[in-house]
Amino acid sequence: MATTMKAVVIHAPGGPEVLKVEQRPIPKPEAGQVLIRVKAFGLNRSEMFTRQGHSPGVDFPRILGIEATGIVEHAPGGEFEKGQIVMTAMGGMGRQFDGGYAQYTVVPCLQVQAITVPTRLGWDVLGAMPEMIQTAYGAITKSLRVKKGDRFLVRGGTTSVGLAAISIAKELGAHVAATSRKPERELFLRQYGADEFLLDDGAIGKQIKDDSKKFDKVLELVGTVSLQDSFQCVAPGGVVSLTGIVGNSWHIDKFVPMELIPKFTYLTVYGGWIPEFMGTPLNDIVQKVEAGKFNIKVGKVFNIDQIVEAHQCMDDNAAEGKIVILTD
Ligand SMILES: NC(=O)c1ccc[n+]([C@@H]2O[C@H](COP(=O)([O-])OP(=O)(O)OC[C@H]3O[C@@H](n4cnc5c(N)ncnc54)[C@H](OP(=O)(O)O)[C@@H]3O)[C@@H](O)[C@H]2O)c1
Repeated sequence: MATTMKAVVIHAPGGPEVLKVEQRPIPKPEAGQVLIRVKAFGLNRSEMFTRQGHSPGVDFPRILGIEATGIVEHAPGGEFEKGQIVMTAMGGMGRQFDGGYAQYTVVPCLQVQAITVPTRLGWDVLGAMPEMIQTAYGAITKSLRVKKGDRFLVRGGTTSVGLAAISIAKELGAHVAATSRKPERELFLRQYGADEFLLDDGAIGKQIKDDSKKFDKVLELVGTVSLQDSFQCVAPGGVVSLTGIVGNSWHIDKFVPMELIPKFTYLTVYGGWIPEFMGTPLNDIVQKVEAGKFNIKVGKVFNIDQIVEAHQCMDDNAAEGKIVILTD
């Protein structure tokens, strides 16, 4: 076995160009850890924040990457067999310790799911799944408790998490509406499964003239910048889950809850960590994708040597789906 690997290392914050592909020693697993031969990894906006220097407690140099998909190389404690397909995410990957932007990564076994169902899905599809599915599934089932017949709105419908949420909510039997700021993306969202499209002009509440068209559940992926408006779209008894921040603002200036939250409606948040990742039925979703019952929208695929281009694509919001990197 080789002793070195390709890894994407960040030494100082900045634009996509600060990401350097370097040769690094293949890490060695200790008891309770597993060495994964990474075959593919998805890109996440949290890695964009880390790259920009906004993630607290992250020291450079660091191998980025909060998720990875690949094959078990070695688990000293015998928790996994060599050759098993596995997925991992979160738990400090790419932030507190070196992460998935590499040909190999070492993570604690307790944050690894084995894919035990037979699959012929490509590494691009499998690599798109861990964090994207964990987030959409957790927000929909745990935070919003979407159920059959709910009117469900995804604000930020063209985000990779938003697209996964459309698939999951449709499968649960919800009526699904989705937003984009770009009118030309309506067809894409409808073809993907959305029943309704709302052009996000920043004031979609005004577009809903009839109270019966308001929503029971709203997945807010644009963030604090549109939260107040999202509450204008919610029916009495309805819930908004603040799950994403593509609008790039974490705060609400002069937050006045009694003005922001209409009476008899509810605000919650979603944040996935190891329990949420481990509780995500990835094997079930792999089977549904295999059977054509569930869509995984891979937006763009790059090779690890193209990591700068891939991050530029994320910065440009150009992917229309998950950006996946293959490591071979
Ligand atoms: N809570 C959690 O546990 C968790 C976990 C993972 C991810 N997240 C969050 O989920 C969100 C989605 O992540 P992702 O990786 O799926 O995103 P992504 O695919 O990179 O999102 C790209 C899309 O974001 C939209 N967008 C970008 N800037 C925007 C703005 N200023 N206002 C409105 N829309 C904007 C664009 O849609 P249009 O141009 O079509 O409008 C674009 O197509 C992120 O905020 C991420 O941090 C949360």
